[in-house]
Amino acid sequence: MSEEATRGQGQRQGQDQEQSRVQGRSGVDTTPLIEVIDLVKTYPSGEKVLRVLDGTQLSIAAGERVAVLGASGVGKSTLLHLLGGLDRPDSGTIAFRGKSIAELREDELAAYRNAEVGFVFQFFQLLSEFTALENVMMPMLIGRQPEGAHRRASALLDEVGLAERSHHFPGQLSGGERQRVAIARSMSRDPSLLLADEPTGNLDIATGMRVMELFSQVQGEHGAAIVMATHNPALVKGFDRVLEMQPGGILQPSETGLPGG
Ligand SMILES: Nc1ncnc2c1ncn2[C@@H]1O[C@H](COP(=O)(O)OP(=O)(O)O)[C@@H](O)[C@H]1O
Ligand SMILES: [Mg+2]
Repeated sequence: MSEEATRGQGQRQGQDQEQSRVQGRSGVDTTPLIEVIDLVKTYPSGEKVLRVLDGTQLSIAAGERVAVLGASGVGKSTLLHLLGGLDRPDSGTIAFRGKSIAELREDELAAYRNAEVGFVFQFFQLLSEFTALENVMMPMLIGRQPEGAHRRASALLDEVGLAERSHHFPGQLSGGERQRVAIARSMSRDPSLLLADEPTGNLDIATGMRVMELFSQVQGEHGAAIVMATHNPALVKGFDRVLEMQPGGILQPSETGLPGG
């Protein structure tokens, strides 16, 4: 089949999906925000191949809060990187609003990472030569949305309690403050999906708890779905679902970290 015809078929399938979504029984859009099917990711490991994810399945609804617990090295970061389009799987599908992100053109994938996804990492990943305000503005500038970027970044910094620190550089901020800047930055494009990888892993316990509470509050107010990876069951309070990652990236409902508990 020609490339053109294959693409045409893809489009028709897309339309069918569109239709079944619109005609959902209750009239509610039931398409998951993210659907992960049979995801496989391997890394070379000496002579052997490490199958970190070996058939991962996950479905996340819009606005849903999902925590992924699991021992260090099990594959949590690997999954988050794939979800965010920062890396590609060996096989399997990640569909965002019903469309496989593997099928996105390079510019569409960049737009997905920039506008649909917000990232919060363990080590903050702020740009050290830019101020807090500039760091929060960055995704809007990269996404060519300079209009109102300054105003929005200021409002977000205010939301995380850092209005007074706008012009400080990351090196002049504490760990907790840096992570609050990163949280503000993650919200700057109003993403539909937040990916948080051990967001309090580099903070002391009390600061970590405060940052987590603030993060939950900001997430709730903006209505983004969140997938948070952590090895710490104490952090999953208020999450809708707590999953435990088993070897091979298999996700199961957790028995230790109970949602709401
Ligand atoms: N780029 C890479 N190359 C080789 N092995 C990797 C790479 N990234 C991760 N791994 C390995 O994959 C496994 C899962 O890593 P990771 O996803 O970071 O786990 P977690 O976030 O749960 O601690 C680990 O054994 C790690 O050493
Ligand atoms: Mg990790």
